[in-house]
Amino acid sequence: MDRRGQLINRVTQSFEANFGQSPQLIISAPGRVNLIGEHTDYNDGFVLPCAIDHETIVAISPTQGELVDVIACDYDQQDQFGINSAFEHQTDEWKNHVRGVAASFKARGLNIASARIAIGGNIPQGAGLSSSASVSVALGKAIATVNGFDDIDETQLALIAQQSENDFVGCACGIMDQLASARAVDGHAMLLDCRSLDFEPIAIPEELSLLIIHSGVKRGLVDSAYNERREQCETAARHFGVSALRDLDEQRLKDGKGDLDDVSYRRARHVVTENKRVLDTAEAFKAKDFQAISKLMSASHQSMRDDFEITLPAIDQLVELVARIIGDSGGVRMTGGGFGGCVVALVPHEEIQAVETAVATEYVTPDGTPAIIYRCKPANGVTIVKS
Ligand code: GLA
Repeated sequence: MDRRGQLINRVTQSFEANFGQSPQLIISAPGRVNLIGEHTDYNDGFVLPCAIDHETIVAISPTQGELVDVIACDYDQQDQFGINSAFEHQTDEWKNHVRGVAASFKARGLNIASARIAIGGNIPQGAGLSSSASVSVALGKAIATVNGFDDIDETQLALIAQQSENDFVGCACGIMDQLASARAVDGHAMLLDCRSLDFEPIAIPEELSLLIIHSGVKRGLVDSAYNERREQCETAARHFGVSALRDLDEQRLKDGKGDLDDVSYRRARHVVTENKRVLDTAEAFKAKDFQAISKLMSASHQSMRDDFEITLPAIDQLVELVARIIGDSGGVRMTGGGFGGCVVALVPHEEIQAVETAVATEYVTPDGTPAIIYRCKPANGVTIVKS
């Protein structure tokens, strides 16, 4: 049985063992990896993520009554809350994702029915591959479907999931992760405009394989550093008199520096140049211009390292190592919010073995174990697996 089949079985069995019935509906929502466009989403800019073939499965049955019963199969934990009482914040983070999604429906005036729910996943957690976004999107789709909320399309689902993170879980993230998990197209990356929420599927050249290498560095300081970066971007936008850094180009940036502090200036420069790199990378994918892909991903990494200051020495070393093997026939950069997590590489098929060997022999994670490498396939966004 394949990985997905095993996960569906695990979640279904857990549902049946706990609730004594089969789930009425099973939903899958993928994790995502961002190919380029980091920290641009909350600046109304452009991103180019793709969904990956690691996912969250949610099994659900509506019930008669007041209560939502939830099982987290991966933690062997349960939760229960009333649909008509105020949703209280919990210490276990996974519980907040469920209550947060329920609260987002409520905030839209949509009353949800009581339900039994089981959740399980195979997305590496804390790796920057959006396991949380996939949980929220899968839950949102499950709740919308059993309640017959037909007006909630996939973009609305992404907004509900983001609102849950922003307002309930307490993470000031942008919209990229949720939209990728909700709307991605098999075999493609998504060129996503985070202002209009329009997107264009961009085929990833079939000559390249998608590798995700986990540095083994646990992402530290994520929330505080993330929020600090957001504030610095907002300071810069105010200085330039624009509603978001998306509205600046390199010339205006240079001409208008004035008395803006150096750090905020460099943060803004990252965002402005990164937006352009995203658009150029989409063109390079279409043209199968591997040299350009290589240059753009490398420039993105340097900009994250020097201007946005979100990489770490171990991550820089991993990126250099992979770049040395693939040269300009593919691309490599850190992916996600930063301060640890994963490196993403687009690698010609014939170089995969060499990359894997180099990482295994030359890179050691902080706890002395080899780095885990995931060979991924660009996947579809949220889907109904069984109804
Ligand atoms: C996290 C956030 C996203 C985005 C990235 C950085 O993944 O959830 O919204 O800001 O960081 O690109």
